Amino acid sequence: MHPTASLSPVTASPVAAAGDAPVLEAQHVERRFGAVVAIADASVALRRHEVLGLVGDNGAGKSTLLKILSGVLQADAGRILLEGSEIHIRRAQDAMEAGIETVYQDLALVDTMSAYQNVYLGREPLAKSPLLRLFNLVDDRAMRKRSREVLDALSVKIPSINVSVKGMSGGQRQCLAIARAILWGRKIVILDEPTAALGVRETAQVLDVIRDLRKHDVSVIVVSHNMAQLMEIADRITVMRLGRTVATRVVKDTQVSEIVGLITGAIGADPEEETRRVTTPA
Ligand SMILES: Nc1ncnc2c1ncn2[C@@H]1O[C@H](COP(=O)(O)OP(=O)(O)O)[C@@H](O)[C@H]1O
Ligand SMILES: [Mg+2]
Repeated sequence: MHPTASLSPVTASPVAAAGDAPVLEAQHVERRFGAVVAIADASVALRRHEVLGLVGDNGAGKSTLLKILSGVLQADAGRILLEGSEIHIRRAQDAMEAGIETVYQDLALVDTMSAYQNVYLGREPLAKSPLLRLFNLVDDRAMRKRSREVLDALSVKIPSINVSVKGMSGGQRQCLAIARAILWGRKIVILDEPTAALGVRETAQVLDVIRDLRKHDVSVIVVSHNMAQLMEIADRITVMRLGRTVATRVVKDTQVSEIVGLITGAIGADPEEETRRVTTPA
């Protein structure tokens, strides 16, 4: 569990009241692959209980940024803050311990295992936690019961938690992976194009689950190319262009056309984004 915001020992930004610190923030992140600049300057702030959409053209740097936040890749420069305090995410395990769960398109579910076994999969990284030691002692029945509770709480509909996930649809599998985040008490869920491979009905199921995550004290960053979808589930949208975050919009105060303009560059970057870039030393 995180300390509550009011108990945070250090806040990086003394100006902000403790409770106002974003749950997760990336500041001026940079990442190169050899000569390729994948991220030139990216800053995002995820607020508590919000769904933040991250958009941009192919190659804009979205996946690279998410991988940095989930410890799969390291940034060359920049800072990451958790509830206002800088953290160093060097490995995927660091991210998980910080309460960050990433749901990949390739979900890493084990086909031959049942739904509830899959929900419990991946507990190894938490083996240091006393809670987990408790879980290790509980029996199958308790695992099934808890899985059922989490899936019900999220209104995830699957045929049975006892059958193997092999025959399950992409949407059901995606929902199972999200449920896993709740079960392990993660407070931040990162999703990279969660509905890209899904049909219409399945997509709706996954979107419902994402939308409801905030009720479970979870904040979400989601990358999607589907603007209509994002406008439905996101509170704010951050736009990346050519490796830079160029603007953030509150969904209820914007329109798809504005977001598309920001993505393509037809609408320029926000002045404050430009200023920050020019005035902030590398
Ligand atoms: N492992 C890698 N090696 C080399 N180049 C990479 C690697 N990952 C991403 N890139 C490059 O970084 C840029 C950003 O990629 P990515 O973050 O995947 O963008 P997006 O998810 O927005 O489509 C692209 O030019 C891509 O080719
Ligand atoms: Mg991508």
